[in-house]
Amino acid sequence: MRHLKFKEIDSTNTYLKREYQNFDNLTFVSTSFQTNGHGRFSREWFAKEDESLLLSYLIKDRSLIDNFSYISMFTAALIVKYLEDKGIKNVAIKWPNDIYVDGSKICGILLEGEIPHYLVVGIGLNLNQSNFNNFNLRHPATSLKMLSNGKNYSQEDETKSLINVINSFWDNFSNDWHVFDNFIKNHNYLKNMRVKVTNQAIKIEGIVEDIDSECNLLINNGKEIV
Ligand code: BTN
Repeated sequence: MRHLKFKEIDSTNTYLKREYQNFDNLTFVSTSFQTNGHGRFSREWFAKEDESLLLSYLIKDRSLIDNFSYISMFTAALIVKYLEDKGIKNVAIKWPNDIYVDGSKICGILLEGEIPHYLVVGIGLNLNQSNFNNFNLRHPATSLKMLSNGKNYSQEDETKSLINVINSFWDNFSNDWHVFDNFIKNHNYLKNMRVKVTNQAIKIEGIVEDIDSECNLLINNGKEIV
């Protein structure tokens, strides 16, 4: 395991995408501030200095890359465990890669890369924001500080402990792709909610029943489970 720390960088994901050839599997990159952080669908991902945990890690192990559909859900499961260990309640995974607490987003995960060469897993976890009033967000958001009566969190300490959780999981991983089956099913934020999902140009609308053991969302469209 290697951990590179920056004070400021364009984006920890972009850095690892540029440099992946120079680093090994499980290289972690964190920063205090990103000038060009991005989320899914190229949306801007902004946080003031020291307000967020901004972390990416590199995967180059072929057996992990070949199972890429599990990687962001497993990362989400590990982050849920890390939050629950801090005493945060009602933490859930909003399929495919957000983490919610009590109906508000606390963390987003962004998987990028080039299969079969490498994957970059980016994590943006809200730590010390007091509110999100100026963000014009599509969904409500929260932070660890907002969930802990205004307590401030050290970006450095939280980054280190989350890296420990993620690194020790993958270090001890023995290719059991079903270790999180029950945990993921039990933390399915969308369960019983009505959703609209587009899968390869096919629009599916219905009620979420479950997440299966291949990390697919199972939706009941009134006629069948798709
Ligand atoms: C999302 O919810 O759309 C995913 C957000 C991912 C943000 C993180 S912050 C660290 C890493 N660097 C980036 O530019 N993005 C990810």
